[in-house]
Amino acid sequence: MMIEFILNGTPHKLDVEPEKRALDFLRDDMSLKSVKEGCGEGECGACTIIVDKKAVCSCMMLASELEGKEILTSEGLGNSENPHPIQQAYVKAGGVQCGFCTPGFVMSTKALLDENPNPSDAEIKKALEGNLCRCTGYEKIIDSVKLASEMIASE
Ligand code: FES
Ligand code: FES
Repeated sequence: MMIEFILNGTPHKLDVEPEKRALDFLRDDMSLKSVKEGCGEGECGACTIIVDKKAVCSCMMLASELEGKEILTSEGLGNSENPHPIQQAYVKAGGVQCGFCTPGFVMSTKALLDENPNPSDAEIKKALEGNLCRCTGYEKIIDSVKLASEMIASE
């Protein structure tokens, strides 16, 4: 089916397989490899993207459900030459180790800070409760979100 959507700021009109998951569509058809598959069951958050300003699991969406939506992935925030403050903060505060979970955390953080620029620890934990990390322990991730909040406020 033909769908229209805005992906990382660029409008697209494309034919998609209606049964394909949004995760597979973004990774395979759009080459957005920041969108990771961990559990494939909505439990780990590795596949988190932002759709119409909300953080969602792309493994639990169909590509056809992207019709008319505005979608953001970590690639749309920044890249290694020009990283977004949230991406910089995760590196500086030690919230990244193997990095598999990081794009998902970054997108959940983006959705949080857009809505609540100065969240409390409890609000950060709540916003990130759908994202799992096997490496860092969560303290450094909370530090990363706080640093990102400060960096954005001082821009
Ligand atoms: Fe989507 Fe784990 S891969 S939540
Ligand atoms: Fe390895 Fe989070 S940094 S899973």
